[in-house]
Amino acid sequence: MNTFGREFRITTFGESHGRAIGVVIDGLPAGLPISPEDVKRELERRMFCHIPALNPRCEPEEFEILSGVKDGYTQGTPLAIVIWNKRVISSYYDELWLKPRPGHADLAYYIKYGVHYDHRGGGRASGRTTAAIVAAGAVAKKLLAHFGIEVAGHITELGGVEIGSEYTFEEVKKCWEKPLPVVDDVAMEKMLEKIREAVVAGDSLGGGVEIHAVGVPPGLGEPHFGKIKAELAAAALSIPSAVAFDWGWGRSLAKMRGSEANDAIVLREGRLALETNKIGGSLGGITLGEPLYFRVWFKPTPSVRKPQRTVDLGNMKPTVLEFRGRYDVSTVPKALVALEAMTAVVLADHLARAGLVRRDKPLS
Ligand SMILES: Cc1cc2nc3c(=O)[nH]c(=O)nc-3n(C[C@H](O)[C@H](O)[C@H](O)COP(=O)(O)O)c2cc1C
Repeated sequence: MNTFGREFRITTFGESHGRAIGVVIDGLPAGLPISPEDVKRELERRMFCHIPALNPRCEPEEFEILSGVKDGYTQGTPLAIVIWNKRVISSYYDELWLKPRPGHADLAYYIKYGVHYDHRGGGRASGRTTAAIVAAGAVAKKLLAHFGIEVAGHITELGGVEIGSEYTFEEVKKCWEKPLPVVDDVAMEKMLEKIREAVVAGDSLGGGVEIHAVGVPPGLGEPHFGKIKAELAAAALSIPSAVAFDWGWGRSLAKMRGSEANDAIVLREGRLALETNKIGGSLGGITLGEPLYFRVWFKPTPSVRKPQRTVDLGNMKPTVLEFRGRYDVSTVPKALVALEAMTAVVLADHLARAGLVRRDKPLS
């Protein structure tokens, strides 16, 4: 499946070394202001070219909004965005044909698609495809902004270094002004050091991120299948290299007793609220009007300079692979931007499913 969502739906296409990648967004109302600048801003947040180890390809994002927008406003018709692939060096991948990279999707794609898949740059499984997700997220974020909803994330762990400090939503948004979006300066410096060490070692790093969504109205999500946390987990684990998901306090809650874990129900400014919101803003899969938050972890980038054992599928003999191409020393920073985008897509879909986004009249 390359389509995600029910009422607000995105369909992505493209491979890493093909001509282009892109997205078609269906289910948008008419009358939402969208400019190329909105898309450009989000694509640039994903680049991290100021730390070359995080994006050696450093693709200048040349894109076009092909349809769905007239005079700066959505028409209510499918909005298509194409992003051209420019800085492609496919020759690195010649010697990798039929030698699946351990940890990458090559082996799985060979099993499923035989010799028909494009292995260059990871093809359809490449992290490059998250640029299309980020473009969709730029549009979804604009829709959320109309309803006063904001989504922002930050890095909580990289290369085994974890943040230590408490933080607010404003601090999460502000930490994007730093070289890495980390609220804790000491932890950020240690993470940057880990990145430098991994480059020298020819290795890669995993880590974790946290997403916050504020201003989310109560009543989004469906009672059994279609729970808000289940759909956000599906969206998160669709991002390449994602390996784990914690809702609210997640595994820390699982270690507590019920009396500690439960959030007291209180009245705040005349409305029903949770005193502590350890549960991440939903109960029974339905939002409560509290902020949503969750954490996602990403494994270390599969491609590394260190020799890796694999099997040559041409002659079915063991072989050792030495990867000479470019690779992101950690997928975490770019994956974080993709995760913000997918969060926005899920929330936009649930706004539409709850009847708050209507397609039978322009947005008012
Ligand atoms: C933003 C982003 C960038 C990535 N960059 C690379 C990379 O440079 N080299 C690599 O081997 N894998 C990279 N990956 C990871 C692979 O795409 C991923 O591990 C692979 O598709 C297998 O999927 P899985 O790890 O979810 O099973 C990246 C992933 C993301 C999200």
